[in-house]
Amino acid sequence: MPDTQPDQPAGPTPALPTIGILGAGKVGTVLSRLLLAAGHPVLISGSGDPAKIALIIDVLAPGAVPMTSEEVAREADIVILALPLGKYRTIPADALAGKLVIDAMNYWWEIDGHRADLSDPRTSTSELIQSFLPASRVVKAFNHMGYHDLDEGPRPEGAPGRKAIGIAGDDAPDLAAAAALVNAAGFDPVPVGTLRDSILLEPGSELFGANLPAEGVQDAAARFPETERGREVAAARADEDAA
Ligand SMILES: NC(=O)c1ccc[n+]([C@@H]2O[C@H](COP(=O)([O-])OP(=O)(O)OC[C@H]3O[C@@H](n4cnc5c(N)ncnc54)[C@H](OP(=O)(O)O)[C@@H]3O)[C@@H](O)[C@H]2O)c1
Repeated sequence: MPDTQPDQPAGPTPALPTIGILGAGKVGTVLSRLLLAAGHPVLISGSGDPAKIALIIDVLAPGAVPMTSEEVAREADIVILALPLGKYRTIPADALAGKLVIDAMNYWWEIDGHRADLSDPRTSTSELIQSFLPASRVVKAFNHMGYHDLDEGPRPEGAPGRKAIGIAGDDAPDLAAAAALVNAAGFDPVPVGTLRDSILLEPGSELFGANLPAEGVQDAAARFPETERGREVAAARADEDAA
């Protein structure tokens, strides 16, 4: 008799990480749906009382649990920032200490107002968020694809025509965790560089708004230094280094 029966159950499946989403708007609710469908528990917040978003969550992301931002930040394993970038100082930084934080935010002057701190070509906005969250590890992901494309685009891994999402960060295990989340949501993750490089995923770049397969995202990322925006960023950073 062999020691183990071949048809014995393999034991409990390790639980998927609980995902927290700060922002219950267009992107936050779409990401909630995609990650719930992949089997992740999802906690979500708006700017205030969770009771205010309970109905919308029931309709748009049933199964996600509305909480305050502070509670989401404390209780989730990985937290996605899906609020207006201009409000980043309202993010509960202390509660996010030690966590992987996925930055899906963009500077949009129509929403955020004209802000020199959010549009300085020397600094990616994710670097700014990393400075605001010094005890967290920030990875950029889910920012460049419009929410309709996110909603309509998920496909299983390996499916023909699967669309891709660029990710950027400074730490290999964190990038791997973000890549797993992008894959779970239904997209091919494409690492495009460091947090500093994540400026190539921001508004003003060719990749912003992109709804492309992996080769398209890789090619556009490689072209960035030759684009007008890429040259502007390189010149601003060279001036800073020379100063
Ligand atoms: N729209 C897109 O296609 C798209 C795609 C990729 C990335 N993004 C980025 O994702 C972010 C959200 O965009 P959106 O279009 O989803 O905006 P949205 O529909 O206006 O939703 C923003 C949400 O953030 C909430 N919020 C504000 N401050 C908060 C805080 N301190 N904690 C938790 N939630 C807070 C708002 O709550 P209240 O209503 O209570 O203020 C609202 O639920 C932006 O940075 C945007 O650039 C957007």
